[in-house]
Amino acid sequence: MAAWLTVVLSLLHFCNAAFDLAMGDDGDLESFVTRPELKAPKFRVTMYEPDEVDRGYWFVGPYGDIYQKDHAAKYYQACQTGPHIFDGDGNLVWSGACQFRNQNTCDFRAYEAPNGTSYLSAIVNFNVHTNDPVGRGVIMNSSYNFQQTIEAPPTVDIFNMHELKLIDDGKAALYITVLSERADLTNLSSQHRAGWIQNPGFEELDLETGEVTFRWHAYPHVSLEESTLPLADDIKENTWNWFHPNSVDKNADGDYLISGRYVDAIYKVSGRDGSVLWRLGGKRSDFALQGFNFSRQHDAQWIDFNDDYETISFLDNGGDEVVRTSNYTSALFVRLDKKNMSAHVTKRIVRPGERFSGARGNLQRLPSGHVFGGWSENCHISEHATDGRLLMEAEFASKRFVTYRAYKFNFTGQPQEPPAMKAFAYGLDEESAVTVYYVSWNGATEVSSWNFYREGSGDAVLIGSAARTGFETRLQARGYVDGKVFVEALDVHGLVLGRSLSTDITSYIDQAVQKPRVGASVAKGAEKTEL
Ligand SMILES: *[C@@H]1O[C@H](CO)[C@@H](O)[C@H](O)[C@H]1NC(C)=O
Ligand SMILES: *[C@@H]1O[C@H](CO)[C@@H](O)[C@H](O)[C@H]1NC(C)=O
Ligand SMILES: *[C@@H]1O[C@H](CO)[C@@H](O)[C@H](O)[C@H]1NC(C)=O
Ligand SMILES: *[C@@H]1O[C@H](CO)[C@@H](O)[C@H](O)[C@H]1NC(C)=O
Ligand SMILES: *[C@@H]1O[C@H](CO)[C@@H](O)[C@H](O)[C@H]1NC(C)=O
Ligand SMILES: *[C@@H]1O[C@H](CO)[C@@H](O)[C@H](O)[C@H]1NC(C)=O
Ligand SMILES: *[C@@H]1O[C@H](CO)[C@@H](O)[C@H](O)[C@H]1NC(C)=O
Repeated sequence: MAAWLTVVLSLLHFCNAAFDLAMGDDGDLESFVTRPELKAPKFRVTMYEPDEVDRGYWFVGPYGDIYQKDHAAKYYQACQTGPHIFDGDGNLVWSGACQFRNQNTCDFRAYEAPNGTSYLSAIVNFNVHTNDPVGRGVIMNSSYNFQQTIEAPPTVDIFNMHELKLIDDGKAALYITVLSERADLTNLSSQHRAGWIQNPGFEELDLETGEVTFRWHAYPHVSLEESTLPLADDIKENTWNWFHPNSVDKNADGDYLISGRYVDAIYKVSGRDGSVLWRLGGKRSDFALQGFNFSRQHDAQWIDFNDDYETISFLDNGGDEVVRTSNYTSALFVRLDKKNMSAHVTKRIVRPGERFSGARGNLQRLPSGHVFGGWSENCHISEHATDGRLLMEAEFASKRFVTYRAYKFNFTGQPQEPPAMKAFAYGLDEESAVTVYYVSWNGATEVSSWNFYREGSGDAVLIGSAARTGFETRLQARGYVDGKVFVEALDVHGLVLGRSLSTDITSYIDQAVQKPRVGASVAKGAEKTEL
């Protein structure tokens, strides 16, 4: 990888996660009897108005080190990073960490096609350790099977990690592209006439034909002089990340909205000719900002628009190590008045605790009008009522991981793999033994209860039932079955959704207790005691 890329990426994206797995301390991660290969981050959840919180699952992509350069692939074993779904109480629903080979995954979301079919989309970041130097976009169906890959254009070095948005009823995808290009720097530097820049842009891809239907790059539509990132001295060798695009959206008119972190501005781009229709913020704002400012913002989206005004939302990070306009991060809803070219805030939702996100993050307007904030650090998330009231917040139990963005969606997951079951028997003898059954079904959302059976010569015999509890459910039953057992998953109506493979019970009967035998000698310190 180019040296410039290494420098820029490590500067921008390295988070201060505590890599304490190497120390053997993983108390901040969940572990499961049925799936020892999965270690999901634990959430700490605080409910303020639980009755008001919308139903839905959380979609996050925990990672520690954005391009996993400083840690060998094996470092993340067991599977911890990649796309994850949690329920509204913070219980794991699906870990895609093993399926994604522990590769960092960004912008993981669910999408429902108009015919009701559900899909998942995500950006798989490049990873040198897994021999994947470019990364890609992926679309999965609701059984977690890969359906389509969106390759990075051949002109770019990597698939940009920030945005993969399915639009037009899922028929097209929008994503960011960054090209390395030579640019005229005479207005910026007395030392250098020309140098390498990262030319930010985006593409719209028709997913049915594979054709790129729109392609745009900021330079030279946007002047390099709009950047607030100082030109590096070594511009001759290194590529200047002067704009740093981090979101793209499209409206019903066919125009686009792109946010640039290092220009502190949001641009509306014509879908007809690529011209910049307006700028909000930064050095050359077309709108006068009334009583507010913002910097290092993320995730600009249209809320509504007409000929007279447009309303957009975005996350005002408030700055970073270089710039600071606010000491806390907030979700902003801004109305742009096109008659007098003024902009004012219609809603501000401050990050709970007035905390500051120096990088990353997003906000999502839920169908109910609630706002779901993804504050990135430790995967801090929050849900707010339409008036901004804080309804709940949650974050990972440790600083090990961040998530680039976080979303809340309804989703129905129907994994193709069967439920995983394990059973262990303990006791002095088979009559008094106790058997403990564990079951989980990674990604299954519809399971309401589990029925455990023993196989026999005739019909299977029910051992017991248990209501589903979180990712893994446990049933303790009397007795021991010397033969095969299996479990069935039932939905809320009692319909069978799937069954595990038939398995043997692992028996510890007569082993759990060390029964002393007459005549045996037992070592006790240095002396020997005859029993
Ligand atoms: C639903 O629509 C998607 C495209 O959006 C299509 O690929 C899929 O086959 C459709 N499913 C059904 C059941 O019609
Ligand atoms: C998902 O795709 C796999 C194969 O690609 C298919 O077997 C499975 O039925 C699909 N699941 C759904 C819910 O469409
Ligand atoms: C440099 O500045 C001049 C004067 O503002 C302008 O005309 C010219 O287009 C600029 N050049 C570049 C490459 O931006
Ligand atoms: C804008 O940002 C500056 C810091 O650069 C701050 O001092 C000022 O109060 C902000 N103005 C408003 C209106 O928020
Ligand atoms: C941030 O907080 C510091 C210390 O309280 C204060 O001096 C500074 O003005 C604040 N900055 C902004 C932009 O509000
Ligand atoms: C611009 O017009 C809107 C009404 O359309 C008004 O609320 C706002 O105060 C005006 N702003 C300025 C700066 O005149
Ligand atoms: C999920 O569906 C329920 C019932 O239709 C709805 O009330 C809720 O707002 C939806 N949640 C999300 C996040 O869309």
